[in-house]
Amino acid sequence: MIDITHPYAPKSDVLAAVPARSPAELVEQRARHVNPCLSLAYREPLKIVRGSGAWLFDQHGQGYLDLVNNVCHVGHCHPRVVAAGQAQMAALNTNTRYLHDNLVEYALRLGATLPSRLSVVFFTNSGTEANDLALRLIRAHTRRSGIAVVDHAYHGHSPALVEISPYKFNGSGGGGKPAHVEVAEMPDSYRGSCRDPALAGRHYARGVADAIGRLGAGSQGAGGFFCESLLGCGGQIVLPAGYLAPAYAAVRATGGLCLADEVQVGFGRAGDAFWAFERQQVVPDIVTLGKPIANGHPMGAVVTTPEIAASFANGMEYFNTFGGNPVSCAIALAVLTVIADEQLQAQAQSVGEFLQAGLRELQSRYEFIGDVRGCGLFLGVDIVAERAERSPDRARARALVEAMKARHVLLSTDGPHDNVLKIKPPLVFSRDNASEFLQKLESVLKRE
Ligand SMILES: Cc1ncc(COP(=O)(O)O)c(C=O)c1O
Repeated sequence: MIDITHPYAPKSDVLAAVPARSPAELVEQRARHVNPCLSLAYREPLKIVRGSGAWLFDQHGQGYLDLVNNVCHVGHCHPRVVAAGQAQMAALNTNTRYLHDNLVEYALRLGATLPSRLSVVFFTNSGTEANDLALRLIRAHTRRSGIAVVDHAYHGHSPALVEISPYKFNGSGGGGKPAHVEVAEMPDSYRGSCRDPALAGRHYARGVADAIGRLGAGSQGAGGFFCESLLGCGGQIVLPAGYLAPAYAAVRATGGLCLADEVQVGFGRAGDAFWAFERQQVVPDIVTLGKPIANGHPMGAVVTTPEIAASFANGMEYFNTFGGNPVSCAIALAVLTVIADEQLQAQAQSVGEFLQAGLRELQSRYEFIGDVRGCGLFLGVDIVAERAERSPDRARARALVEAMKARHVLLSTDGPHDNVLKIKPPLVFSRDNASEFLQKLESVLKRE
């Protein structure tokens, strides 16, 4: 039995008393007692017991290079993040009805990273809670419930968000598109209806304008437009240049609000921008945050303008028991500090460029790499059966993921055809990590 604890971890008699079960036992107990609507990664699921930087370790101490975890943003178990959480947890954790420095300090520090009109923060516990609250803000401000979304998008798991997530309502078990939602074609210049980079932005923005038009006027009219700033479930898609500005103009022309869902891609991952919406030269009315905000600690946030926040303040309180508690804010403050001190946005940019160049070089030699795309440390490798046809090859993509796992590299797939290798490691992912990954990917590709 290896010692799974970090040198700086305090000892816990409670954790010491948790029995160490085999992977087979865990699978069996989960199947009986835990949420059955949840798939496990890999044919042979991994038991992961420790994380450090860009690495995860199984119960035998075997390391796995993690290219998937976009939540543990500044690295698994970053010592400064852990220390901030431990110190605050040992001092106080309570709700936000008391004054606390951490809350205000975080609101100010977060606000300083955003355009100045986005100056009011609501604290939540997840991306879903953030988007759910954003829907309420939109309804309160516009008095309309219609929402335009991008095809294949996922915005969260609450009933209201499943209704605006084509990835869910058109996926297995989904109930189809509700009447108050309209869907715009995904701005995919690789496989979509416009593949010319010079025309794609305007072309797909017209799709948003059409969706807004279909929502019409009245109480079911266009309240808002939700769009991820880089498309995750859509298959690691970078929005074409000049897309959001005309799309936002069309939404605003009818009095609707524009929301940037940065739950997956915010906090410097894009490399050339701290917020991925900035790459489109737009300022949203609402920005929603989650996943990386607190490096794996459950937290989310909505940031909006004073005017929209004022429309929501109709007398009914927004109280969230855990949202913005001193521990969450301490951890989130540490994340912002580490991103700045370790220059992780710049690292995402330089390592991302190195990775993309390496992947493109592989693409030049392996026909079944149809497309390499992305920015910063948000990359996708589109696996195809026929390059000319751009026909998705899900089976090969899945096989590559399993083969890489056998070489101790963690990847996964996404996209409407589930054929895109998604690469979004913690931002501490280094050039050496990237070289190791590329070398192992090549050894797997050779055997295909
Ligand atoms: C773009 C986007 N928005 C919202 C969510 C929901 O976040 P959470 O799982 O924290 O509720 C997700 C989660 O995958 C997401 O990717």
